[in-house]
Amino acid sequence: MSNEDFNKRLFKYFDDHQKDYIQRLGDAVRIPSVSAWPDHRSEVVRMVEWTKSLMEKLGVKVELADIGQQKLADGTKIKLPDVILGTYGNDKTKKNVLVYGHLDVQPAQVSDGWDTEPFVLTEKHGKLFGRGSTDDKGPVISWLNVIEAYQTLNEPFPVNVKFVLESMEEYGSDGLEDLLKSLKNTFLSDVDYVVISDSYWLGKEKPCLQYGLRGICYFFIDVESSTKDLHSGVFGGTVHEAMTDLITIMSTLVDDQGRILINGMYDDVAPLSPAEEQLYSKITFDVSTYCSEAGVKKTIQTEKEKILMHRWRYPSLSLHGIQGAFDGCGCKTVIPRHVIGKFSIRIVPNMKISTVEKLVENHVKQIMKTRNSPNKVSIKLEHGGNYWVADPNNPQYVAARKATVAVHGIEPDLTREGGSIPITLTFQEQTGKSVLLLPVGASDDGAHSQNEKFDISNYMNGMKVMSVYFQEVAKL
Ligand code: BES
Ligand code: MN
Ligand code: MN
Repeated sequence: MSNEDFNKRLFKYFDDHQKDYIQRLGDAVRIPSVSAWPDHRSEVVRMVEWTKSLMEKLGVKVELADIGQQKLADGTKIKLPDVILGTYGNDKTKKNVLVYGHLDVQPAQVSDGWDTEPFVLTEKHGKLFGRGSTDDKGPVISWLNVIEAYQTLNEPFPVNVKFVLESMEEYGSDGLEDLLKSLKNTFLSDVDYVVISDSYWLGKEKPCLQYGLRGICYFFIDVESSTKDLHSGVFGGTVHEAMTDLITIMSTLVDDQGRILINGMYDDVAPLSPAEEQLYSKITFDVSTYCSEAGVKKTIQTEKEKILMHRWRYPSLSLHGIQGAFDGCGCKTVIPRHVIGKFSIRIVPNMKISTVEKLVENHVKQIMKTRNSPNKVSIKLEHGGNYWVADPNNPQYVAARKATVAVHGIEPDLTREGGSIPITLTFQEQTGKSVLLLPVGASDDGAHSQNEKFDISNYMNGMKVMSVYFQEVAKL
């Protein structure tokens, strides 16, 4: 049978088994594997077990790698979830492709404003709503579905596949970097290509391949004022309040143009070359759709090119929250004794995590000097992850482009992303090989947001692209 005939059969097989695939994703979504909730660690472990047993059913050899313990803020330690190392096939004449993905998800509660139960996959108008549907359970399961389809159709798999599936990605991939370093000369030594499906198209219709990610430095600013919470009627106006210090600091970080106000933060940002500047206008991207996806009236920049640059190649600073501050409904006249402000900086070439950390420390010190406050202020880099940029002209990208054309009939845009997958650079460094980001989800999937979803069409087409991608890589 020619390859084209086989692909026709394969694609039909995917379409015919849509119901089963949806059910499988539903089983995964039902496990609330939230890595940020220590009291849910057993659910994360259950997700690892669920995936392991699916992989073993498909004949993937699975090993669980212990990556040690996580130290919580209160000093207690809990076990980090094991990392799944899978090996499928060991034919020396075939290429070895490593697939990375994550099984943990962001927190979600109906009270956040979901229209459906976040951990019950709900189908509506061709969309599958549920936490982790697109980030990243859907894509991870897609890779496994591809293996299953080949088996059922009795077709030899075009490549050997290795899997690294972690479950702390949404919390900064604790422990994974050390594990990968330790596997450099064993599990990783024969890898030819690394592929990651944990990002999203730039729009809803046109597929893309990505060759860049921003990094992230996540900070905690800890301010402690008294040994206990105080009555604002009794102590207000006489004590230096922790919240006042913290809010002052947090208000000096970024301006209304999105510009980071910390001295020196732009010094290492790579200048925009004329060649790079030309890339942006060719990319399909609609500003008004972007606004409606974000649910905002307007963006800081108005031009498409500028928006993309600020998303992909300039740093940004976002404020995330204040732990310990009163956030209930109604009024409470309390002065909180201890608050922790949280913010992050997305970093880009050629910023260094250690420099960013020093600049932030200096800035906070500078601001506190003007405050005349005796309060204890400490700043901590909670996690740092590097940016990553690759060459989109290398053979692996060519293979993925062919796969995209075969399924969607259109050349994908070559884009970057503003989000972070901190382990990407580590894969590149430890294997010395090309890493490809092959997104399958759409721009409006809403990862991390309320009503996260994965379109059924993206689920089905994603598996088709993954299949042809393996075939194309086999030919390289
Ligand atoms: N899948 C995302 C990464 C991503 C986000 C890619 C947006 C493309 C666009 C990943 O699961 C994620 O959320 N990463 C975190 C990393 C952080 C917690 C260290 C992020 O970007 O916030
Ligand atoms: Mn993800
Ligand atoms: Mn995520």
